[in-house]
Amino acid sequence: MSPQDRLGRPLRDLRISVTDRCNFRCVYCMPKEVFGKDFQFLDRKALLSFEEIERVARIFHRLGIEKVRLTGGEPLVRRNLELLIEKLAPIDGLDLTLTTNGALLAAKAKRLREAGLRRITVSLDSLDDAVFRAMNDVDFPVRRVVEGIDAAAAAGLAPIKVNMVVKRGLNEHSIVPMARFFRDRGHILRFIEYMDVGHSNGWRMDDVVSATEVVERIDRELPLEPVDPNYPGEVAKRWRYRDGSGEIGVIASVTQAFCRTCTRARLSAEGQLYTCLFASSGHDLRAPVRSGASDNDIAAFIERVWRGRSDRYSEIRSEHTQSRGKIEMSYIGG
Ligand code: GTP
Ligand code: 5AD
Ligand code: SF4
Ligand code: SF4
Repeated sequence: MSPQDRLGRPLRDLRISVTDRCNFRCVYCMPKEVFGKDFQFLDRKALLSFEEIERVARIFHRLGIEKVRLTGGEPLVRRNLELLIEKLAPIDGLDLTLTTNGALLAAKAKRLREAGLRRITVSLDSLDDAVFRAMNDVDFPVRRVVEGIDAAAAAGLAPIKVNMVVKRGLNEHSIVPMARFFRDRGHILRFIEYMDVGHSNGWRMDDVVSATEVVERIDRELPLEPVDPNYPGEVAKRWRYRDGSGEIGVIASVTQAFCRTCTRARLSAEGQLYTCLFASSGHDLRAPVRSGASDNDIAAFIERVWRGRSDRYSEIRSEHTQSRGKIEMSYIGG
C-alpha cells in the first residue's frame, strides 16, 4: 500500500505545519532581524482549513501513514487547534502528536487531551532563566513552560518528551541540569544537534555540540547505557540511566545522519508538500484540493511525488548544499 521512494524508503510519517507564526523568536530559528514587524506571514486564506487538513491526512493514511505530528511555527497559536485534534484523533490506528514551545500549554493541555491527543513533545532549551529568555528572545520565563509541561502531565498526556537544541557556547552548560530535572519528573529529554536549516540562523559547524559529546557529559555524572530503538528508523538514539531512573534520547542529525531510514513527508500550512526538511521547493497540494480533485487524484499525486523522492541532505551536506535556498524551520516545522 505504501509507496516507496527511489531509495526504497516507505512513506510512514506526516508532519503537518498548521501555522508559520510563532510567539517566540528563538535565535537559531526565527531571529528578530529577519522575522521582525515587517515580516510577511502567510495570509489566513492561504492556510489549509481544518477540513482540508483532515481530508489530506485521511488520504495519506490510506497510503500508509502511521504517525501525524502537528507542528508550526507554534501550533498552539492557531486558533481552536483542538477542533483539528478532534478530527484527526479518530483516524484508525494513527499515532497523533504535537510539538509545541509550551508557552500556551498550561492553558490548553486539558482541552487538547479531551479532544483526543494522547502524547506531546515540548521544546525547552535551558532551565537557566536568563539563558532561556535570551534564547527565545521574547523574554519568556522558564517557569511558565515548566507549568505547561506539568499541566500536560496532569491532563494525562503521556509520554511527555522534551526537546533541547544544544548550541555551543549558548546552552551547553544546561545539559546536565536538564537531564537531572526531567529524569526526576519522569519525562524523556532529547538533545538535538543544532542544524543548518533555512538560511537565517547563520549556522556554523563549530556551533554543533555532537550527540556523542552530550552522552559523554551526562554519563560522567549520571551513568548511561544504550537501549534498542522503539521502532526501526527512530530518529532519537535512546539511552537509559544505569540506576533505572529513566531514559534520554539524542538526535544526531548532523554528525550521524539518518536519511537512510527517513520516512517523513512534510506539509506546510499552505499545503505545500515537502519530501525533506532541507528541500528548496515543495509540491502544491492545495491547488488540487481546492479545485475539485478526487481523493484518488490526490492520492495519485502524492504517490508520484514520493516515488520520485531521492532526498538525503544530511548525508551529503557540504558547502555547496548549505548555500541553496532552503525553506525555514518555522515555515515547515521540525
Ligand atoms: P517520536 O519518536 O515520534 O516521539 O518523534 P521524533 O523522534 O520523530 O521526534 P520529533 O518529531 O520531536 O523530532 C525531533 C527533532 O528531530 C526535530 O525537531 C528535528 O530537529 C529533528 N528531526 C526530526 N525529523 C527529522 C528529519 O527528517 N531530518 C532531520 N534532519 N532532522 C529531523
Ligand atoms: N536545529 C535543530 N533543531 C531546531 N529546531 C528549530 N530550529 C532548529 C535547528 N536549527 C527545533 C526546535 C523544536 C523543533 C520544532 O525543532 O527547538 O524542538
Ligand atoms: Fe522557537 Fe519553535 Fe518558534 Fe522556532 S518555531 S521560534 S524553535 S518556538
Ligand atoms: Fe529526511 Fe531530509 Fe532529514 Fe535526511 S535530511 S533525514 S532525507 S528530512
